[in-house]
Amino acid sequence: MEPKKQLRIATRNCGFIDPENIEDYIGVRGYEALASAITNGTPAGVIEQMKKSGLRGRGGGGFPTGVKWAFAAANQADQKYVVCNADEGDPGAFMDRALLEGDPHSIVEAMAICGYAIGASIGVVYIRAEYPLAIKRLIKSIEDARDYGLLGRNILGTGFNFDIELKYGAGAFVCGEETALIRSMEGSRGEPYTKPPFPASAGYWGKPTIVNNVETLANIPPILVKGADWFSSIGTENSKGTKVFALAGKITNVGLIEVPMGITLGEIIFEIGGGCPNGKQFKAVQTGGPSGGALTSRDIDVPIDYDNLIARGSMMGSGGMIVMDEDNCMVDVAKFFLDFTMDETCGKCTPCRIGSKRLHEILCRITQGEGTLEDMENLQCLGATIKDTALCGFGQTMPNPVLSTIRTFMDEYRAHVVDKKCPAGVCVSLLEIVILAESCVGCTLCSRVCPVNCISGTVKGVHVIDQAACIKCGACIDACKFQAIVKR
Ligand SMILES: Cc1cc2nc3c(=O)[nH]c(=O)nc-3n(C[C@H](O)[C@H](O)[C@H](O)COP(=O)(O)O)c2cc1C
Ligand code: SF4
Ligand code: SF4
Ligand code: SF4
Repeated sequence: MEPKKQLRIATRNCGFIDPENIEDYIGVRGYEALASAITNGTPAGVIEQMKKSGLRGRGGGGFPTGVKWAFAAANQADQKYVVCNADEGDPGAFMDRALLEGDPHSIVEAMAICGYAIGASIGVVYIRAEYPLAIKRLIKSIEDARDYGLLGRNILGTGFNFDIELKYGAGAFVCGEETALIRSMEGSRGEPYTKPPFPASAGYWGKPTIVNNVETLANIPPILVKGADWFSSIGTENSKGTKVFALAGKITNVGLIEVPMGITLGEIIFEIGGGCPNGKQFKAVQTGGPSGGALTSRDIDVPIDYDNLIARGSMMGSGGMIVMDEDNCMVDVAKFFLDFTMDETCGKCTPCRIGSKRLHEILCRITQGEGTLEDMENLQCLGATIKDTALCGFGQTMPNPVLSTIRTFMDEYRAHVVDKKCPAGVCVSLLEIVILAESCVGCTLCSRVCPVNCISGTVKGVHVIDQAACIKCGACIDACKFQAIVKR
């Protein structure tokens, strides 16, 4: 039974079959799509089905899969490649890992189908080395598929040759970007290069290459088995099928979900996710990973699809959703994501390398109570310039968390800059921890837990905090049984 509001296409087999047993996969119509394509179909017919299905890439860009395959198929070359992008660098996201661990044969089958469609005989899975179980299961699936004559030379006696090898990524976020990934696979530094040429015309070793995300691939066998019309009947006008999301942060039900495109944000956050824990108020959700944007309660009725998210200053990304509640400071959230991107920039182009640092410095100033109104203007101006001038998708989206939080939480930024207050009580430089004299009974507990001994007072006497020495760790607040200590 499907869990409430969910629909499993990409994750259809996860948890239902033994991922290490090829016969389990065959038992759920596994390899039927490949067998039927190479025995009864044509490459053009497969591409037509993919186009008709409306499947768009789940790795972030949302490019139509069938159209991309058609480009590679049209390019003549002595060698072509199919690459599965299993780099999955978004913090907190593990959709691809779950698919590879739970249903590795569907990825192997889909890569072979793509190879047949575009005329490639070699597939490469670029997978992060931190995914040992996914790697182990993928290797076993490839070996078992070879033993069953479903990979290798002359597959099912049709003359079609296709085999798969693995390349390991070392965890750099930018190596998920397809051109950086190709460089990394070739043994060079994982730095993006300008497009065109797109990988479909000149990719791995300069040959036509299809790079597809794991989740994109997981959708392909069921599309061919059940038909493009079935798939395109699910979702919205321009975003067909389902999407797997990783729910994380301040949400009651944390984990992976798969939902039809067009479901509203409210249905995801409240009906599936169970809302924020401890009765806290939902404040925002970051979609699209560290380069995405924040959606708020104003977006709760928005049907989730590629175009609607972009129209609201965010993006689908690969499917990470980090939920924030009333206790999160949105300036601090923007700083957190900039901290990540500043570390992960490859440094090749100036707007991204230097711009990320300057954005981060301004955000630090604001959270430390030293920001000015001019800083807020500079954030917007610099953010827009970086988006316009950075070389790759990383830099072009990196200012999104800043720009989207400024747009939606302008009051919060102004409170930091003008009033020198952090309304959520997060930015320590803007906080005071104080003891309410009327509530303090002088139990002395707070002074005993304070790590810097900055609370003074006698037994049964009102206690006082030395503000100059307080490091705002909050230990006293947790310790006080009389709610006599507050942040303000
Ligand atoms: C900074 C950056 C990181 C990316 N990381 C990933 C990733 O981890 N996995 C992925 O599939 N695509 C990632 N992408 C998107 C890829 O460049 C590419 O569009 C995708 O793999 C194509 O597959 P698809 O058409 O199936 O989505 C990233 C893009 C950028 C700009
Ligand atoms: S935008 Fe950033 S990640 Fe992309 S090439 Fe330039 S420096 Fe590297
Ligand atoms: S723990 Fe609370 S009640 Fe006890 S001394 Fe500290 S502030 Fe007063
Ligand atoms: S917040 Fe930490 S450092 Fe400050 S008074 Fe309380 S326990 Fe001491």
